[in-house]
Amino acid sequence: MKILVINGPNLNMLGKRNSKHYGFLTIFQINDKLKTQAKSRGINLVFFQSNHEGELIDFIQHNCQKASGVLINPGALTHYSYALADALKDANIPVIDVHLSDISNREDFRKINVLEEISVETVAGKKEKSYEEGLLKLVTHIKSSGH
Ligand code: DQA
Repeated sequence: MKILVINGPNLNMLGKRNSKHYGFLTIFQINDKLKTQAKSRGINLVFFQSNHEGELIDFIQHNCQKASGVLINPGALTHYSYALADALKDANIPVIDVHLSDISNREDFRKINVLEEISVETVAGKKEKSYEEGLLKLVTHIKSSGH
């Protein structure tokens, strides 16, 4: 099983961002945790991070045919990128969106999640554990839906 692990704008700066919201780990440390989790289950993870909406969309378009699902933290694009939401919808594979911080309990603009409709589930507010929980949920969903 191949899963795309996608991080959007500013997530390359993890480790230097506000630890109250985002914790202390870098994106590489988070990815390493996911790799360990995936290895024991025989899952192949393909990682991608970009600060550019179009690059994220290109990556999804070029890689979705050979993947079983997408784990994505779209960063601030979560709150307004209908283009990213469309690309994920057109990919036609299960998506789980994850957020380090509790987006339902911050500024009003963060309470809007334009991926809500296309995402199987949103996992938020658990710092790096959001990714780990999100990956488990995605794998369980893929297996149960026979993909
Ligand atoms: C985020 C929440 C977003 O509102 C923010 O713009 C981010 C990261 C999170 O992981 O909590 O960059 O998606």
